[in-house]
Amino acid sequence: MLDAARLAVVADARSGIIEREEDLTGVVLAAMEGAPADRVRVVMDALVRHLHAFAREVKLTEEEYDLAIAFLNRVGQATNDSHNEGILLADILGFSTLVCLLNNGNAGATETASALLGPFWRMHSPKTENGGSIVRCATPGDPLFVTCRVLDPTGAPIPGVEMDVWHASPVGYYENQDPEQVDMNLRGKFFTDAEGYFSFRSVKPAGYPVPTDGPVGDILRAQKRHPFRPAHIHFLGFRDGFKTLVTQVFVDDDERLDSDVVFGVTRHLIGEYRRHDAGTSPAPDVTGPWYTLDYTFVMEPGIAKLPFPPIK
Ligand code: BEZ
Ligand code: FE
Repeated sequence: MLDAARLAVVADARSGIIEREEDLTGVVLAAMEGAPADRVRVVMDALVRHLHAFAREVKLTEEEYDLAIAFLNRVGQATNDSHNEGILLADILGFSTLVCLLNNGNAGATETASALLGPFWRMHSPKTENGGSIVRCATPGDPLFVTCRVLDPTGAPIPGVEMDVWHASPVGYYENQDPEQVDMNLRGKFFTDAEGYFSFRSVKPAGYPVPTDGPVGDILRAQKRHPFRPAHIHFLGFRDGFKTLVTQVFVDDDERLDSDVVFGVTRHLIGEYRRHDAGTSPAPDVTGPWYTLDYTFVMEPGIAKLPFPPIK
């Protein structure tokens, strides 16, 4: 709201006495006028105005209010060290992707877009040499060989980028969800070489449903939405002097590319996972069909900062 318009609403409300429903928003805004930090005040001011406008628009009933509060409490109760229901809620509402696109790549216009972090990034992935495998226990699936390069916006390679990689198995589970996988399976940390390259071996991931046994699952069922994410690999690139890159590269033959339950798929992030026929791999243990992915990331100059880990 423009400052003048806001002042007019608030001026009437300074007495703090509420005569009618319409008075309330101004009274609340007036109560928050003393907020010391500009940003706190801007954000809280807008939150109150939009929240009040939302309740007025839908004519929220008292039963719906009770339901909403109970729902938020359940989101908190469902969150623990290995599961983050709060992030999941933001994700299925498109809120995580909106914040991501607002804050990265000239609002999605530059060569590499970022994508939402999701709830499954863990710190301290095992350091793995370039070309090494992140398959740390028997994980049946099509072998996948990934070669990536990290460039700056001028096209120059960025050496020494610490790149975390994590993805779901070919049956659609992250290792922390699956007793069949060892700790840190399909996770690894790589460092780009002098030419900006890093590479690794894995297995082609599958799409998977987001967890639906909590309150977020209730919303998806109420909205008759499927809970699936298209198959993808997550990447988190970190190096001093560059804005931390959080992204995902999607598998191009996934049938749900256009209906990701968390709205993460942008055009830039669809990778070309090339299929090769059985008997053509240089790796002696690869006898069936196999895949390669080549992908180039662009990191923008900025502040290197790790996100808050959603799980431990
Ligand atoms: C993920 O890609 O790991 C993810 C993102 C949002 C919700 C659930 C999972
Ligand atoms: Fe994922």
